[in-house]
Amino acid sequence: MKVTLVDDVASKGILVIGLAFGEGKKPPLVIESGDLVLETKPILDSLKAMGATGKADEVIKIPSSGFQLLVFTGLGKVSRKYPHEALRRASGSATRALAGNDAIAFSLPTPDLQSVSAVAEGAVLGAYLFEEFKGKTKGEQNSPVTSVTVHTSFAKSPEAKSIPSRAKIIGEYTDLVRNLVNTPASHLHPISFVDAIKKAVADAGGEKSGLKISILNEKQLKTQGFGGITGVGQGSANPPRLLHISYTPKKAKKKFAFIGKGITFDTGGLNLKPGLGMEAMKSDMGGAAAICAATLAIASLKLPITIQAWAPLAENMVSDTATRPGDIITIFGGKTVEVLNPDAEGRLVLADAIVKAGEESGLDAMIDVATLTGAQVIALGTRTSAVMTNDEALSTAFLAAASESGELFWPMPLPEELRASLDSPVADLANIGERMGGMLVAGLFLREFVPNQLPWAHLDIAGPAYNETGAFGYTPTGGTGVAMRSLVRFAENACK
Ligand code: BES
Ligand code: MN
Ligand code: ZN
Repeated sequence: MKVTLVDDVASKGILVIGLAFGEGKKPPLVIESGDLVLETKPILDSLKAMGATGKADEVIKIPSSGFQLLVFTGLGKVSRKYPHEALRRASGSATRALAGNDAIAFSLPTPDLQSVSAVAEGAVLGAYLFEEFKGKTKGEQNSPVTSVTVHTSFAKSPEAKSIPSRAKIIGEYTDLVRNLVNTPASHLHPISFVDAIKKAVADAGGEKSGLKISILNEKQLKTQGFGGITGVGQGSANPPRLLHISYTPKKAKKKFAFIGKGITFDTGGLNLKPGLGMEAMKSDMGGAAAICAATLAIASLKLPITIQAWAPLAENMVSDTATRPGDIITIFGGKTVEVLNPDAEGRLVLADAIVKAGEESGLDAMIDVATLTGAQVIALGTRTSAVMTNDEALSTAFLAAASESGELFWPMPLPEELRASLDSPVADLANIGERMGGMLVAGLFLREFVPNQLPWAHLDIAGPAYNETGAFGYTPTGGTGVAMRSLVRFAENACK
């Protein structure tokens, strides 16, 4: 995707501007063309006649004498300063609706640099198509837009210079997450996940860019004592892996560990999931994809932050070698876990990775990202992810970054009284506890493996990682890429 900032719009091409609605019983329509002056009276009458509303996700295309096409994208309620996420979604809806065209121009309200950034980012994020497994019908869908220009009076300002390249990087690595999530388990298992990330690391410049990658195979995992990853992976013909990426800048201001759940498919194991909707469990590696992509994005942005990224990868299958209910495994570092439910597998692979990641000295914080519980979706719905933590300051900083990046995250507690429900009569811990508040119980389980005193945040993205309904804003159907942008923003803010 090519992104350019301009301070004049060439007539002729396709122009996207905003449409908002005012207050009242019959809310008036307001055209928002940002820093571009347009004669709007006649267009407003046409828009009214066709029943335009200016609501988010509405995109209206009208022929125009001045432009090849004039496109109105809904901004919602009129405002002197639109929320950055309203701009991001409006530009994303527009690029989605304009697939099949190469180049489009935007002129939306950009009163500050973040607004310019939001418009550019939304445009890039909306331009996505997953066609890899189309056979005979490949090419039948409209191709994504390849070039966008953003009209703004900031075009020549030095502070705006990095906006296009940053938007490109955000788009590229969000798409990496989406592609990995959308790739079915027939084509994505632990080894092919590793191969995809190896390629992405090489494309990002590899060691020249400060990136290093290392992998533990199933034999090494077993002999070194990674009982969580081994236990979850042992039921599958596709063996597990532990993937590690490190990004070391020349000078680092902070050092973070990222850990992501990488279950390339979750059948539930011997606690087999019901068939209806099981295909969505190809998204159970969304956390691993997000932390790997975020690490590469942080390296591409050359941020002065060291990242240690860990992705425990396994396929949770049903077979005669699968872990049975009641089996006891030993997590890396020695804690034993009674596996009462082999469908609570994410926390087992994460426990290994959290202990391993925690061996690193000088960490400032640890963040894990996981499609961990159905309870997350019940509690917060399909679009809002949860944050649990042992450190309020870390959670606050992460939530601020998430809100700036336009991702919905909400703080959730880790109530002490639920901890005892994870006690086991035969092992140090059981892998399930009290059913009510299941998302919090999963968080409490993970907390047991975090080093004392280390600020840690746990992100449960079970619902938001995978969009099973229609596309909206800049979010396509299928893999969404969630958490990638918030992690990058979190790292950017940590440089300040
Ligand atoms: N991968 C699932 C969680 C999930 C559910 C992700 C829905 C995305 C959408 C996880 O491994 C799981 O099966 N969790 C169980 C835990 C339970 C057995 C304690 C669940 O939530 O039912
Ligand atoms: Mn499961
Ligand atoms: Zn799972």
